[in-house]
Amino acid sequence: MPLVPAAWLLQHARENSYAVPGFNFHNMVDFQAILSAAEAENAPVMLMATEDTIDFIGFDYIHGLAAAAAKGTNIPFALHLDHGRNLDNIVKGIRYGFTSVMFDGSRLPFEENIRLTRWVVDVAHKAGVSVEAELGQIPGHEDNLSVSEREAGMTDPALVPEFVEKTGVDSLAVAIGTAHGLYKAEPKLDFDRLDAIRRETSVPLVMHGGTGVPDEAVRKAVSLGICKVNVGTDVRLAYMGSIRQTLEDQNVKDPRVLLRTARQAVVKLVREKIRLCGASQKAGLLRV
Ligand code: 13P
Repeated sequence: MPLVPAAWLLQHARENSYAVPGFNFHNMVDFQAILSAAEAENAPVMLMATEDTIDFIGFDYIHGLAAAAAKGTNIPFALHLDHGRNLDNIVKGIRYGFTSVMFDGSRLPFEENIRLTRWVVDVAHKAGVSVEAELGQIPGHEDNLSVSEREAGMTDPALVPEFVEKTGVDSLAVAIGTAHGLYKAEPKLDFDRLDAIRRETSVPLVMHGGTGVPDEAVRKAVSLGICKVNVGTDVRLAYMGSIRQTLEDQNVKDPRVLLRTARQAVVKLVREKIRLCGASQKAGLLRV
């Protein structure tokens, strides 16, 4: 039961007006931290590996981590492949026990994005794996874009019904003004656009670029239909901030001291984000 398809978690979130937080992990330490935080909050969670992380850790070890986690917890969680662009990786992810994959065809022309997303959905659904897709482009560094460039990349609500119907996706990442990484200025989310998208589809919507979005804006986005909030940079910042601080003490000679403290810092951050998404105490409802 604990390692579950994302669609199952996200449908529950949609029906109960909260969001499942998705956290990028980078190694065993932050993987364990995310799960511990979810246990402390009794919350469903998505553990997400990008292709870079898969490259760094390897499919076998990720599979081992998820299997160990599933054995030792009763928190329902999904193992998600984040921003998959390489179809071989996506197929491997499905074989290695990922319960959710994202195909990121956002840079492709609309028809091509539909065609490849459909292909991924056909393969994934046969294995009971959920699929997230992206329509519109969530930029890497919002501040490098002009307003018109920013708007041009945003999800067009009018295209959503055709995309969802033709692809059969389980969730949809939307570009509504968030960006991956750190913002130089406070991000301005296009809530009208989100509302318009919500009216076009009942598929759970995903907000990427959760780091640096003000709490109030996250809450409003969730109230307007965001069912999953992705957080990556904040996990790395909590981890690295703790490492830097611990290393100021020249007496620390044991990597376990260093990493245990880093793990605690990530737990703290993840618990805050879980509460922000309204996911705290929702695991019990999912177990029924
Ligand atoms: P941040 O790194 O900005 O939190 O974004 C994470 C993300 O959207 C992963 O897909």
